[in-house]
Amino acid sequence: MSIADRVRNPALKNKIMSAEAAAELIPAGANVGMSGFTGAGYPKTVPQALARRIERLHAAGEEFRIGLWTGASTAPELDGALAKVHGIEMRLPYQSDPTVRKQINEGQMQYTDIHLSHVAQFVWFGFLGHLDVAVVEVAGILPDGRLIPSSSVGNNKTWLDQADKIILEVNSMQNPGLEGMHDVYYGTQLPPHRLPIPLVHPGDRIGEAYLRCDPDKVIAIVQTNQPDRNSAFSPPDEISQRIAGHIIEFLQLEVKRGRLPADLLPLQSGVGNIANAVLAGLNEGPFQNLTAYTEVLQDGMLDMLRSGKLTMASATALSFSPKALADFNEHIDFYRDRIVLRPQEISNHPEVIRRLGVIAMNAMIEADLYGNVNSTHVMGSSIMNGIGGSGDFARNGYLSIFMTPSIAKDGAISCIVPMASHVDHTEHDVEVIVTEQGLADLRGLSPTQRARLIIEKCAHPDYRPALLDYFERAQHGAPGKHTPHLLDEALSWHARYVETGHMLLDAGRDKQLRCA
Ligand code: COA
Repeated sequence: MSIADRVRNPALKNKIMSAEAAAELIPAGANVGMSGFTGAGYPKTVPQALARRIERLHAAGEEFRIGLWTGASTAPELDGALAKVHGIEMRLPYQSDPTVRKQINEGQMQYTDIHLSHVAQFVWFGFLGHLDVAVVEVAGILPDGRLIPSSSVGNNKTWLDQADKIILEVNSMQNPGLEGMHDVYYGTQLPPHRLPIPLVHPGDRIGEAYLRCDPDKVIAIVQTNQPDRNSAFSPPDEISQRIAGHIIEFLQLEVKRGRLPADLLPLQSGVGNIANAVLAGLNEGPFQNLTAYTEVLQDGMLDMLRSGKLTMASATALSFSPKALADFNEHIDFYRDRIVLRPQEISNHPEVIRRLGVIAMNAMIEADLYGNVNSTHVMGSSIMNGIGGSGDFARNGYLSIFMTPSIAKDGAISCIVPMASHVDHTEHDVEVIVTEQGLADLRGLSPTQRARLIIEKCAHPDYRPALLDYFERAQHGAPGKHTPHLLDEALSWHARYVETGHMLLDAGRDKQLRCA
């Protein structure tokens, strides 16, 4: 399908131009809202053209940086290209790009890590400043100017509403069959005029299949013919499979106890290989007629839709490997009946997540003895990616499960630590912690009860004695006995790792003691 077939509005056809020409229309210092969520539906050619422009301007001694706002992570063509030319002053609300991460951690780029459900309303509230330009990928433009969304919806509705000027990238590589898969809700108001969101089942459609767009604000239409990021997943390894096994066993037990229905409750699954392994486990597992109310649809959920284990999935983005994408494209009519793509303010909305009773399953970097979870920072100070939607789901879900391998970096790091070096999810939002060692059900337990269970069930055997030793001494030495900590020691494991490359005082000796 050519760009002329995809842009069916005559007035907008006149605004078709090159990516170079469109990039010239973005002013220095502008806040730019770009589409894109987990490597899906992001603009591809305008950001690269903008990067080339910035490089030229910097070479000529001119300052040029933008504030870059997106739905979530994008790809090398967007985040990577702009970061490589030092074109980003401020980034929000989520990223996973190595160059961006490096610049943030070297103090060269500002980064505001925001709950993904908060972003749109923060812009509407005026909390983030003015949005100057929107650059949004779409699959097509209708004769009346409405837009067929692409492989993600993210914050596009808000960018199109709030930006002064709009640049549209029409991507001929996106399947035209995406039309009709989206549900864009236009009923959100600002307090005090807000009304309940009328969504009571993951598959409900409460909005419109298209994005509204004021044609007078459109300053450029650019053609693209490039694929999304489409990263492949590694096949589930033994660690991920064991984590998945513990979770499935736990869910089965919850059904037996009458605390979950036989078809569970809507599933939310975080990003990455472990999350994908859990879904693969569920696809093989005993549950039928499942639903998902999640943020990103990865390969695992597509497999479950295909097998019939999952009957309906709601998300804001599609993030597939090339193999899964080929299947999706081939059977798009089948998937269109079973997938709803929504704005992220709805896919991650606390009200809806609470009402549906979502089972939230997210990966983490580390947890401490009392169940506080760090999802974002390595050794307390270096950002990995961001909080993403994990907080939206963990705080408001029916059950909040966090998972990680018990150790990282060949055992030099314990993912169960005395005190988390950064806290994204406090103990109050964490009901279950799982590692390949086992699962700790923390519901209703006091801090000291939690600590015993987490050490027993989740810690790696190499670290169990040191954790127990810390905990026993803290119970005697801490000024308070409710959540006992030795303040001068609580973060010493992290400090030791930074200094020596290993969290244990004497890794060899501790191991010998345990074996003796
Ligand atoms: N300390 C330091 N580094 C650690 C660590 C720890 N406790 N635990 C893991 N790591 C390192 C790993 O070694 C790996 O490093 P590498 O890239 O150099 O190999 C890296 O962190 C990623 O770990 P991995 O085990 O492969 O996990 P992942 O890819 O599943 O990512 C998170 C885990 C937590 C980083 C990721 O899930 C995330 O960003 N979560 C926050 C957002 C979120 O939850 N979104 C979903 C909501 S819908």
